[in-house]
Amino acid sequence: MPEVAITAELPGRAIEWLEKECLIRLNTGVQITDEAKLIDFIGSADAVLTLLANPVTDRVLAACPGLQVVGNCAVGFDNIDLEAARSRGVWVTNTPDVLTEATADLTWGLILAVTRRLGEAERTLRDGRFRGWALDMLLGSGIQGRQLGVVGYGRIGRAVARRAVGFGMSVAYNGHTELLDPDPPATYMPLDELLSTSQVVSLHMPMSRENHHLLNEARLRLMPEGAFLINTARGPLVDEAALVRVLEDGHLGGAGLDVFEDEPVVHPGLLERENVVLLPHIGSATQEARAAMAELAAKNILAILAGEEPPTPVVRPAGH
Ligand code: DGY
Repeated sequence: MPEVAITAELPGRAIEWLEKECLIRLNTGVQITDEAKLIDFIGSADAVLTLLANPVTDRVLAACPGLQVVGNCAVGFDNIDLEAARSRGVWVTNTPDVLTEATADLTWGLILAVTRRLGEAERTLRDGRFRGWALDMLLGSGIQGRQLGVVGYGRIGRAVARRAVGFGMSVAYNGHTELLDPDPPATYMPLDELLSTSQVVSLHMPMSRENHHLLNEARLRLMPEGAFLINTARGPLVDEAALVRVLEDGHLGGAGLDVFEDEPVVHPGLLERENVVLLPHIGSATQEARAAMAELAAKNILAILAGEEPPTPVVRPAGH
């Protein structure tokens, strides 16, 4: 039987399915965030089922030559050195689609929370500062009739755009080549134009070397005064220190962030701001989505170990 190393407990039936066909080794302890510990844990396994915190570097792949597949339990794969996997003939798979709607819902949760000051409002009430209804209390910013700028018009970006119709927002997109017939309908704009004309900008790009600090200080300052930035994609897309400066001097109206540059560390300048809503990377965190992600990761691994086509490959070794 092939051996599968699983770096964390999984929801749904993923483990049950893997156990039927493979010998499994399950990490029930703390997350493995260190290369050496990951190498130790994978050992001679044929497959590893990983989470975002597991750094699958070239060194890890070199030290675990038995590996045929890295099945990432996430749609993103910036924790994996794809070039190294390709050159070492290792499959890489991810878990798209099954988390799209959950992540789009959470993105809208952040848009509403930050534009309507929900975090601040709840803190006001819990701190005993609610003294009764007042006409001028905790006024937010309306979004109806304004433009939502979606950077990255892939599955999640489009799901976020679909919801914009219900809130009466128009949508501009970038981060994807101009589409002939975008679905849902949206206007393509060069990034700088999108930034300078959107009241809310929401990031949905995959993380890559080229995208690091895509939103640097100059780009953040292109956004209109009082505009809002939402990031449910990856922290390093935004220069976090620059974002703090742009919030501190009042240029931006606020930010809704589910991801951070150096997770789980959060910039102290963000923690102290009332107009920032901060979430601990829970974009896909519904019971349904997380079970489906784990099960899709398991299906990918089982297919590859059986010599079959995996449902959602990212890296396919030469000859396959
Ligand atoms: C992913 O899948 O890449 C998310 O960041 C976690 O759901």
